[in-house]
Amino acid sequence: MATRGVGLLTRLPLCAQRSRVLHPIHRLLTCPGTVATDVRREEQSFGSAETGSEDRTLKRFSEVQKERREQAQRTVLIHCPNKISEKKFLKYLSQHGPISNHFFYESIIDDQLNILLKEFQLTEENTRLRYLTCSLIEDVAAAYFPDCAVRPFGSSVNGFGKLGCDLDMFLDLDEIGKSDAHKTSGNFLMEFQVKNVASERIATQKILSVIGECLDHFGPGCVGVQKILNARCPLVRFSHQASGFQCDLTTNNRIALKSSELLYIYGAVDPRVRALVFTIRCWARAHSLTSSIPGAWITNFSLTMMVIFFLQRRSPPILPTLDYLKTLADAEDKCIIEGHNCTFICDLNRIKPSENAETLELLLKEFFEFFGNFSFNKNSINIRQGKEQNKPESSPLHIQNPFETSLNISKNVSQSQLQKFVDLARESAWILEQEDKDHPSSNQLWGLATLLLPSVAKSMSHTKKKKKPASERIKNLLESIRSSSTENSKNTVGKRTVSTQA
Ligand code: CTP
Ligand code: MG
Repeated sequence: MATRGVGLLTRLPLCAQRSRVLHPIHRLLTCPGTVATDVRREEQSFGSAETGSEDRTLKRFSEVQKERREQAQRTVLIHCPNKISEKKFLKYLSQHGPISNHFFYESIIDDQLNILLKEFQLTEENTRLRYLTCSLIEDVAAAYFPDCAVRPFGSSVNGFGKLGCDLDMFLDLDEIGKSDAHKTSGNFLMEFQVKNVASERIATQKILSVIGECLDHFGPGCVGVQKILNARCPLVRFSHQASGFQCDLTTNNRIALKSSELLYIYGAVDPRVRALVFTIRCWARAHSLTSSIPGAWITNFSLTMMVIFFLQRRSPPILPTLDYLKTLADAEDKCIIEGHNCTFICDLNRIKPSENAETLELLLKEFFEFFGNFSFNKNSINIRQGKEQNKPESSPLHIQNPFETSLNISKNVSQSQLQKFVDLARESAWILEQEDKDHPSSNQLWGLATLLLPSVAKSMSHTKKKKKPASERIKNLLESIRSSSTENSKNTVGKRTVSTQA
């Protein structure tokens, strides 16, 4: 029984149909919350229920069956809050009798969120390939700027990158000449001289212009080179054929590197953060709230900030504010870039873990509720202080840049895109609410699948055109999920659909 439970709970595809594990109630020791146990450690070897692979006695099929059944009858399935130590919890439970075999398990939706993260996060190879690509571009740029560095930033390095995301890189000229500006060679003193340019912005544009030309004509595998020099942050965009990455090259972008470091820290201090951000990013993509084409849409960077802000607002908070991380900083963490204070603690081990033990399932639902009811017209999202501030300007969505505090990172977002986000957030909260109440039949999609399938989005936009009342739209929506579920479940559509969206 327990083995079957674990199989279902740990390897469940996103849109697998819900089959509730039925167990004698006295063997299901449960407590609200999640467990972060790797139950695979508990797996036994094939053909030998008790003794493991070292026992060479070959058993009859019927003997194995008997042993397994007996073993299962002596095993308990335990649901335990993730903040409680397994050892202590077991000790507590053993007051009711000795426990020799047990499995810990997680909430099924929690499992789905973690599966989504595992499936779509950047792999070790992909990350290495990103650094290699930067190194190859550095070789090209070194023709003009010896000793320059090309560094990756953004989702390639901040822990929130999804397979297929772009490769943001910046040409770091700060180190040039620092070590050897006054190189001595024998009796001579060598000095690099630089030409003065009217402004920093013009210098950036000129540098990117020559590098862009160089990549276009001589960069191995660099195709479709576009110089986008009049943007607020000038850049060269190109495809790197060998690696398959879409690359954005900027220069002078140290603040963005610092904000990548900050996001990396936020993603690393609590295991729930990355799972929740990935899910929200996938959800937004599935519903066309985000796009690879620049426009009036919400970006993944803004969504990540929204999740961080939401987690700072929990009680007790799951993530600390940026101001608090600044108070933990010591002298070597001090960092001022272009007059902006970018100081925060860099040693993650000195950040105390949160006391909050909420499940991912609850957090997902609460995220949708929180932003479904947020006063976007009045308030700004601010991860530095971890609380709403009055909006300093009239953009529909205001998310303060954590370091360049006068900037709004979501200035591009239109009122209609924001409204679409709010509507979908409300409907998703509602769908998750129903999940709790209903016990769907075996041929019905459930959990994340209902939130991610494009059929949900399509049915929403279709019904919206006809301007039906919300209740009717939701009814239709659920109907459409029900009717498509039989067909979809044959192909585990949940996973396949998300991968085509990547
Ligand atoms: N950035 C910023 N302000 C913005 C947009 C971007 O500071 N208005 C910085 C952030 O550090 C961001 C990085 O530039 O992480 C790269 O931007 P972008 O590629 O849009 O976001 P990513 O976080 O890389 O997400 P994605 O996976 O969508 O590329
Ligand atoms: Mg990016």
